Amino acid sequence: MRAVDLIRKKRDGHELSGEELGFLIRGYSEGSIPDYQMAAWAMAVYYQGMNARETADLTMHMASSGDMIDLSSIHGIKVDKHSTGGVGDKTTIVLGPLVASAGVPVAKMSGRGLGHTGGTIDKLEAISGFSVELDQEQFFSQVNEIGLAVVGQSGNMTPADKKLYGLRDVTATVDSIPLIASSVMSKKIAAGADAIVLDVKTGSGAFMKTLEDSIRLAKAMVDIGTQVGRSTIAVISDMDQPLGFGIGNALEVKEAIATLRGEGPPDLAEVCLILASHMLILGGKASSEEEARALLQAKLDSGEALNSLKRMVEAQGGNAAQIDQPDQLPAAELQVEVKAEKAGYVESIQAEEIGIAAMLLGAGRETKDSVIDLAAGLILHKKIGDYVEAGETIAVLHLNRAHEDRLEEARSKVLEAYGITESKVPRRPLVFALVTPEGIKRF
Ligand code: URA
Repeated sequence: MRAVDLIRKKRDGHELSGEELGFLIRGYSEGSIPDYQMAAWAMAVYYQGMNARETADLTMHMASSGDMIDLSSIHGIKVDKHSTGGVGDKTTIVLGPLVASAGVPVAKMSGRGLGHTGGTIDKLEAISGFSVELDQEQFFSQVNEIGLAVVGQSGNMTPADKKLYGLRDVTATVDSIPLIASSVMSKKIAAGADAIVLDVKTGSGAFMKTLEDSIRLAKAMVDIGTQVGRSTIAVISDMDQPLGFGIGNALEVKEAIATLRGEGPPDLAEVCLILASHMLILGGKASSEEEARALLQAKLDSGEALNSLKRMVEAQGGNAAQIDQPDQLPAAELQVEVKAEKAGYVESIQAEEIGIAAMLLGAGRETKDSVIDLAAGLILHKKIGDYVEAGETIAVLHLNRAHEDRLEEARSKVLEAYGITESKVPRRPLVFALVTPEGIKRF
């Protein structure tokens, strides 16, 4: 087999066999296929696409390129959740404890932030002493004991995806639906879950800006899961504005704690309930969304969901007192209000601009070696549909003096992110569609 023939075959719109895709992924991983040939193949896929069978084969070759985690020693149906990313998305910190308290074991591997703000692992490190590095034995026994563990990804998971993603990033081939779907699903499959709930974001702050593209991506991922024997469903949720009010590591942990207390922002609480309901259904703990919601609400009301977070924090060496008293979490030296320049209704909040503002204040990594300031970030005071007076506070910036030189830039970003109009703006739906192996249900 020669790479050039496979590139030509895909370029001309033909299907590649599983064996041919395996040859490409193995060759690229080992170094016998060079970057330029893999880039040419990725561009051919960008234009010609791949069918569901090819996408599933590519996924499995990437999943098996490194460690495949075997979760079989953990009792019960292990359900994982993946969000395609966005600003202010702290759902994992709410969902893990919530779902675990309802009896579905959560053995979660999460990433650090690649974009403007921290990832789940960075956020959890705002809790003092919390360790995200457990060895496999500790990881499994913690989930068997308390139902929940969240750790960093193992160093050698899906190396082929890592290499290919890096190449796609510099060859304008990231935004290909089959390549994104196989990249995301290869990591989920290698992480070992039996079932997967995907939260595919749509809107200005999401990878996929339009609903139709988001549905296409969701369908490609659900098809992969189904083909490889992992029950998979996808919820299409809004990312046309940040989720919740807080953006930044400790600020997001505080908001997740508030949500587990039943006092969180309505949009975050609702998205978490929807995702958690599907996790319960796939985990065999409920047979309908209504039944799942009732069970989850009971776990929130009784404090068991919050308690589940506390137990995980304790088990992973963190200071659980910070969960009871979130004001003990890192706090910034300065809080600076950003005031609206004109009156009107908020019609848009560019999530990416808000993410950049948070990064300028220190909440994210500007380069891959930057050190995150766990206390930094911002709290939005107005969301889409709200009325704002001229001079009223729309957001509060949280920063330490070390980042004071970026204050004005961050303030301008926040002001630029807000679109304000004179006419009333309807609230946006939170969830647009549900994609299951049976079909697509639009709301
Ligand atoms: N996230 C991933 O993990 N892979 C992609 O290709 C795009 C987004």
